[in-house]
Amino acid sequence: MDGQELRPVRVDGWQQAFALPAGAGGTVILRFTPDEPYRTGLAAGAGCILLVVILALLPVRRRVTPAGPSPVRGSGRSWWMFVPLMVLAVVLGGPAGAALLLSALIVRQVRPSWLAPLAFASAAAGIGVAVGGRLTGHGQEWAYGAVVQLAMLAAACAVAAAAAPSSGKPEKEISVDDQPIVEHRATLGRSVRLFRTFLVEQSDPDRFYSMLAEDSVRQLGAYVDLNRARVLDVGGGPGYFASEFEKAGASYHGLDPAVGDFADAGAKVAGMVRGSGTALPIRTGSLDVCYSSNVLEHVAEPEKMLDEMVRVTRPGGTVFVSFTPWWSPHGGHETGPWHLLGGERARRRYLRKFGREPKNRYMETLFPVSAARMMRWARAARRAGAVTVVDVIPRYHPWWAQWVASVPVLREFATWNFTVVFRREGESVSTIVQEDVARVSLPDVTQ
Ligand SMILES: C[S@@+](CC[C@H](N)C(=O)[O-])C[C@H]1O[C@@H](n2cnc3c(N)ncnc32)[C@H](O)[C@@H]1O
Repeated sequence: MDGQELRPVRVDGWQQAFALPAGAGGTVILRFTPDEPYRTGLAAGAGCILLVVILALLPVRRRVTPAGPSPVRGSGRSWWMFVPLMVLAVVLGGPAGAALLLSALIVRQVRPSWLAPLAFASAAAGIGVAVGGRLTGHGQEWAYGAVVQLAMLAAACAVAAAAAPSSGKPEKEISVDDQPIVEHRATLGRSVRLFRTFLVEQSDPDRFYSMLAEDSVRQLGAYVDLNRARVLDVGGGPGYFASEFEKAGASYHGLDPAVGDFADAGAKVAGMVRGSGTALPIRTGSLDVCYSSNVLEHVAEPEKMLDEMVRVTRPGGTVFVSFTPWWSPHGGHETGPWHLLGGERARRRYLRKFGREPKNRYMETLFPVSAARMMRWARAARRAGAVTVVDVIPRYHPWWAQWVASVPVLREFATWNFTVVFRREGESVSTIVQEDVARVSLPDVTQ
């Protein structure tokens, strides 16, 4: 009062009061301490909204994309965005927040154009209910009710999903010859069909591998035009993929250290190269596509094989690597799920039970390769300017579950097959035969 601070007192145990000095009195100014930061916050928020409106009104200058295959997918580099987004959703709305964010991500995959209307409609509904309640005489608690909170949470999740990085389908490329390309559709039905045929892999390998080959070539075709492409299939196995690649117009070369098995399986061995993925007997930069399916986990030095695959691919070419992570349901192959208790133990158990060693022997022909290890290599290769990560996907999952490949730890368990697509970067290399050709080694792989 008049420059003098009044003594605060409490009335009836809870009411705030101040003791006024006796006398004629003066002017009392009451100041609520949190009022100032509250108003500053409001002003800063208004400033930010104004900034967003100005930025939205500014004309966008589109980035010019260099010619070549479609560039970097966000998922490979920005997977971490999902973690803070999910944490934020859970902090804001608990399980409802998580469910709304997941729903918004699904909407983004099916109908991306619905996200903006959804965000606006939810926000409008929330504001409408809050303001309407006040106008009709409800108390302030009305605005904090479940309906308003849920509507605003839905709006926030729709905005977050729109801004989150995508692991969705890459843009389709047009074949130079305008050949009709059968689009790869990662539907739930496709996942179920693949899984059903996987169950007969042992009894009817022809059926399983033919279907897998057809699906795989179509999937790869979503990233690169295979027409007239020179393709190397590292660890091509019994050559089941050859005819599908050739149907797509590619010139196919299979490579595998276990040629004996090809003949046993009655596969065409002609044109198949005998060699190891860790020392490819192939000229540097001579391929358009270097492909590998279900091989990395059978190689003792997976990084060496990845290095080699990148080396033999021409700048601008595509490297497609797909493998079964150790902690995935099929990580232990025929020794699973006991491999989760230890690879050696699972191998011994198999021997005890069936009286013979498994085909995939732990630390001999089957190695514990994780998605994290693959991504460590990918980051190092990207930093070295050797590759660009084009996509990171769980190979057999339906499109709406593809985000799991972007989440560390989760992807180790929840992807049956972890797939990374790279584009080869770097200078054009000379076509001189590399001395690596002389370094071909043939590991003892008998499967
Ligand atoms: C499970 S099969 C995969 C066959 C085929 N790519 C597919 O997806 O159906 C694994 C293959 O990897 C091959 N392999 C094992 N070690 C290899 C190595 N060091 N380099 C290349 N291939 C290897 C095996 O001989 C076998 O054919």
